[in-house]
Amino acid sequence: MTAIDAFDIVFFGGTGDLALRKLLPALYHQDQDGNLPAQGRIICLGRSPSDTAGYVEKAHAKAKEYLGSHYNENDWTKFASRIEYLKVDAHTEADFVALAETLNKFPGRERVFYLSTAPDFFAPIAKNLAAQGLNEGNSRVVLEKPLGHDLESSNKINDEVGEYFTEKQIYRIDHYLGKEPVLNLIALRFANTLLEPLWRREWIRDVQITVTEQVGVETRADFYDKTGALRDMVQNHLLQLLTIVAMEPPASIDADAVRDEKLKVLRALKPLSVDDVKTKVVRGQYRAGAVAGKPVIGYQDEPGVPAGSKAETFVALKAEIETWRWAGVPFFLRTGKRLSERLAQIVINFREAPTSIFGKNLGQPNRLVIELQPDESVRLYLLAKEPGNQTRLRQVYLDLDFKETFATRSPEAYERLLMDVIRGDLSLFVRRDEQQAAWRWVEPIIESWETSPEGPKTYTAGTWGPAASSALLSRDGLCWYEEA
Ligand code: BG6
Repeated sequence: MTAIDAFDIVFFGGTGDLALRKLLPALYHQDQDGNLPAQGRIICLGRSPSDTAGYVEKAHAKAKEYLGSHYNENDWTKFASRIEYLKVDAHTEADFVALAETLNKFPGRERVFYLSTAPDFFAPIAKNLAAQGLNEGNSRVVLEKPLGHDLESSNKINDEVGEYFTEKQIYRIDHYLGKEPVLNLIALRFANTLLEPLWRREWIRDVQITVTEQVGVETRADFYDKTGALRDMVQNHLLQLLTIVAMEPPASIDADAVRDEKLKVLRALKPLSVDDVKTKVVRGQYRAGAVAGKPVIGYQDEPGVPAGSKAETFVALKAEIETWRWAGVPFFLRTGKRLSERLAQIVINFREAPTSIFGKNLGQPNRLVIELQPDESVRLYLLAKEPGNQTRLRQVYLDLDFKETFATRSPEAYERLLMDVIRGDLSLFVRRDEQQAAWRWVEPIIESWETSPEGPKTYTAGTWGPAASSALLSRDGLCWYEEA
């Protein structure tokens, strides 16, 4: 891994939740692990007036809460000495003059501008940075999702930012790509020979990608109600996971080699017609129920949700990839809030044996389960004989538990991704054409829902979503992993 040179990382939206809960703690961890050069500076920007001491105090309280047992007073003090706070309004040119002065004290450094703000601010920020010449040299800009609301609005944002930064300087972040088990799936697929011959339609019956949460909309109703689960999770995180599962082996690990292959998958997704949406996509919205034993209110009663909202808090869908490798293999994607468990996993179900010498109804013999959270593991399920005089088969698994196997702290997704931006590695960031292809594929779903008189199906909080989600698979004679 390339060592990191002196850098300045600038967080727009520095007082926001993401910066305080994820970005600063991620850099703290990397500092604690000795991966940040002493000269690395972190410049946090916000619209409210504060001095650095005031800001650091606030950041400290949040970091302590978030870091839990990883928090260490001395490490924090050392880390915090890198932080500076500046009041910068995205539209105020003079604020950017002050920012440029701060940055130009150390010319020639790697410079990262992380735009953790609403996308409406991306264009003015890019323009104002360029006006100060801050888009030159080793400058990079990181764009947080949501990047637009549909293909048109995402194109507009990309065009606007693209006026000032080249594609090679733009890092579109999808934090799911930084999760360790996802990176491990890439290693598992392309460093080993075992799976490759089986990784195709002849041997794989179906793929299930699940990202479920127990939390509701929390304090984000205003954002979430306009966004919904399809835009918030499916268009980006779930489709990105699908590309990692389905892509062909890239010619190298170079950013564009990997991204070219991911793009091919997105482009090969079978387009959905309005009628397909009715049968292949399920949308749901939670009503009151109980999650982890505690009663919770329904989506319609969440503070800030407009009466009669049709926003979906759950999506399950069946996608197909029209390639020789994947034709006919359903990829089931599912995500939602206020569900039974917090779980992110990819399940690859292999086909049943063509005939069995062990009798009938042995069920699913082999599956590969990659768990992203809450635990990080890869399990390969096999049938094995139980000890004893009778031949009784049982499912067992070969387990790669990251915690036990590597006995080291597994870094958070943002740690890896922030380090990649600083060192200028684009491979885990989404290229514009990938993003466009993903929007293009989900747009018919959005259109179909917008014109449909029907709203989302309701589901009780604390369940696995509406019954229609199970029916989506049972129509193909299949079921979700937890129902098997
Ligand atoms: C974000 C979504 O991108 O991902 C949130 O906007 C969601 O709604 C979050 O809660 C889930 O991320 P993670 O890493 O906690 O699974």
